[in-house]
Amino acid sequence: MANIAIQNVTKSFGSYDALKGIGLAVADQEFLVLLGASGCGKSTLLRIIAGLETADIGEVHVGGERIDQLQAKDRRLAMVFQNYAVFPHLTVFENIAFGLRMQKRPQEIVSAKVNQVARMVHLEALLDRYSGQLSGGQRQRVALARALAVEPRVMLMDEPLSNLDALLRLEMRAELKSILAASKTTTIYVTHDQVEAMSLADRIAVMHQGVIVQCDTPLEIYRNPVNTFVAGFIGNPPMNFIPAHAVQDGIFEARGLRLHGPLGYRELLLGIRPEDMQVGDAGFSCQADLIEPLGPNVLVTDVQDSAVFRAALSSTATLSKGQSIFLQPDLERVRWFTPEGQSVKSES
Ligand SMILES: Nc1ncnc2c1ncn2[C@@H]1O[C@H](COP(=O)(O)OP(=O)(O)OP(=O)(O)O)[C@@H](O)[C@H]1O
Ligand SMILES: [Mg+2]
Repeated sequence: MANIAIQNVTKSFGSYDALKGIGLAVADQEFLVLLGASGCGKSTLLRIIAGLETADIGEVHVGGERIDQLQAKDRRLAMVFQNYAVFPHLTVFENIAFGLRMQKRPQEIVSAKVNQVARMVHLEALLDRYSGQLSGGQRQRVALARALAVEPRVMLMDEPLSNLDALLRLEMRAELKSILAASKTTTIYVTHDQVEAMSLADRIAVMHQGVIVQCDTPLEIYRNPVNTFVAGFIGNPPMNFIPAHAVQDGIFEARGLRLHGPLGYRELLLGIRPEDMQVGDAGFSCQADLIEPLGPNVLVTDVQDSAVFRAALSSTATLSKGQSIFLQPDLERVRWFTPEGQSVKSES
């Protein structure tokens, strides 16, 4: 069993609070993605788990054993760094073999394992090359292969695909997920790419300024974000937030549309995703200021009143620039937030 329990982990750099009491439980064999904008503390948390950084307060447990007081080498975790640390004076083969050599594994096992993981990351043709002569993307794959070769119980990955081109990234993403599932590895994977997070994760922990704001399945986070920060961070283009005011208790008006909402509020924000509306005879009023055909759909943007309002419509919708239209929301998909941005459950 290699479940991970992170309890109240807190870290400051000088007067800057990088992590503010992080609590997180990752199940055995789970693939957990830490998602957040640059500087929110993702790498710091991963480095604390790996033992490359020390927390000011808090504990880290793996498989029921407290590990935060152990040295990094005694924690039996593998880590792939954001800036791929490969040894330039070693060949690709020896770089990948590094962990296996440390474990003093017999040569035939080392050979077989290195060849196997090299094939997974498409490096089999480069095994004799010195790592100093590789491109960034190739070096990143060497780092990945080295971590996979030792079949760790826990894999910590910090943006391991960031230097790959779009196609290779897609391919490696799918491969990574199946490799780690097959090896029954518990994984914490850091990224700021929400599409990558959605596609890889069993659960996503969304971080913001040193705090985990929401931790749930990708679908639940997409459907029921706890606040406007998470709602705006997941999904592209982001969710629209329309100021709505109550015309009577539980009936709100937003962009000319009246609809049922939570009881007991006068002002709220109505959240609706661009993909959850279609053109109709009634709905939110919208002026098609920008019309961008994207292939599967057409992105329509209203830029009036400085509040951007977007809809992703089926590409069969024919519109002309500046046209006034009504956008009918899928009422099941409407979400409500307080003006401060906290989610409110609709009771009606
Ligand atoms: N050794 C350090 N000394 C001082 N400040 C640091 C140190 N390491 C990190 N920080 C600060 O702590 C905050 C969190 O850094 P961290 O590297 O964890 O961010 P991140 O979420 O991984 O960002 P990115 O997506 O850009 O990699 C940042 O504001 C960073 O500048
Ligand atoms: Mg980072």
